[in-house]
Amino acid sequence: MKNIPVVLMGCGGVGRQLLQHIVTCRSLHANQGIRLRVVGVCDSKSLVAAPDVYSMELSDNLLLEVCRVKLDSSSSLLTLNGSGECQVYSNSELTKKIIDIAALLGKSTGLALVDCSASSETIGVLNRVVDIGCCAVLANKKPLTSKMEDYDKLVSHPRFIRHESTVGAGLPVIASLNRLLSSGDPVHRIIGSLSDPRDDLSGMDVARKALILARLLGQRLNLDSIKIESLYPEEMRPGVMSAEEFLGSGVSLLDKDIQERVHKASLNGNVLRYVCVIEGSRCEVGIQELPKDSALGRLKGSDNVLEIYSRCYFEQPLVIQGAGAGNDTTATGVLADILDLQDLFP
Ligand SMILES: NC(=O)c1ccc[n+]([C@@H]2O[C@H](COP(=O)([O-])OP(=O)(O)OC[C@H]3O[C@@H](n4cnc5c(N)ncnc54)[C@H](OP(=O)(O)O)[C@@H]3O)[C@@H](O)[C@H]2O)c1
Ligand SMILES: *[C@@H]1O[C@H](CO)[C@@H](O)[C@H](O)[C@H]1NC(C)=O
Repeated sequence: MKNIPVVLMGCGGVGRQLLQHIVTCRSLHANQGIRLRVVGVCDSKSLVAAPDVYSMELSDNLLLEVCRVKLDSSSSLLTLNGSGECQVYSNSELTKKIIDIAALLGKSTGLALVDCSASSETIGVLNRVVDIGCCAVLANKKPLTSKMEDYDKLVSHPRFIRHESTVGAGLPVIASLNRLLSSGDPVHRIIGSLSDPRDDLSGMDVARKALILARLLGQRLNLDSIKIESLYPEEMRPGVMSAEEFLGSGVSLLDKDIQERVHKASLNGNVLRYVCVIEGSRCEVGIQELPKDSALGRLKGSDNVLEIYSRCYFEQPLVIQGAGAGNDTTATGVLADILDLQDLFP
């Protein structure tokens, strides 16, 4: 049986779903000769770890208990302190303890450090752990979208890092791009609808996804150099216009402006879509006029759609479409990433 030791950072919607998938997939994984050994789980304030990470792991009962406790987002993992089968470390020792575990396991059994947090604070520990020779799996976009220097460090051993769920949740976006790129099929244009603008009016979340794709294609860009067309004008920005005003008179003004653009586009046989475009040295997020009969033009509902143009997919793009969010699909993508690392473990 091949063992993959795992430390999970973040037990919100995605992290908890991941723990549940790990527990329910036990026999499936055993049939493949694999066992995921979860040796530590942390939230923003504390870490629960097996007393001896070499020979012990957190039991399935304890993992489900972690999920139960964290269902209430205000409760703390410190309540697990009394249970005896684990040790609990507080905030001040958290990072050091994870690095200790990585140092201990990195060179021998290996370790997969999984980031299901939504924080920039994990960059430091991720970089250290990758340096020690451990693997990293991310659903969290922030470590990949901070300074170029941090990005370079994080991806310095490309086989040791997976981040499929950072773009399009469980959809095989990164994997498909990597297959094209590594086979010498240059990708010259990606255009995608990667967010539900209702959740992301400022466009920040989709800008992070666009940056991850642009960096994958070799663009050396930072988040602040991405052009983001906001769905509302400057004078309706939070802080300038109150939320009440925005929802009252604001939204209807917004509708009128958009209505005009929709009408103009339709005269050309086109539709408007809020997309990210990565092409050449260009990386931007905004409203584009697109052919009605393209994959993006046909898009209805909340699916994510990505059109990828390369030498092999020149006129007809490679299209990836499906649910691009949700705790379940995202956690499934993370789990698939962990399993994808199995050949790196003894
Ligand atoms: N949900 C989706 O559909 C989806 C899709 C694609 C990608 N993602 C990404 O997946 C990640 C997780 O999403 P989510 O919805 O599960 O978020 P969430 O519910 O907000 O959970 C975040 C978790 O991270 C923990 N955390 C915060 N700072 C931390 C730190 N410094 N170290 C360790 N843990 C820390 C939080 O701890 P506390 O409980 O102590 O606050 C919480 O348990 C995000 O980066 C998100 O962008 C989500
Ligand atoms: C994902 O998890 C979060 C946090 O527990 C929850 O608020 C949200 O409703 C879940 N989303 C879905 C689609 O189940």
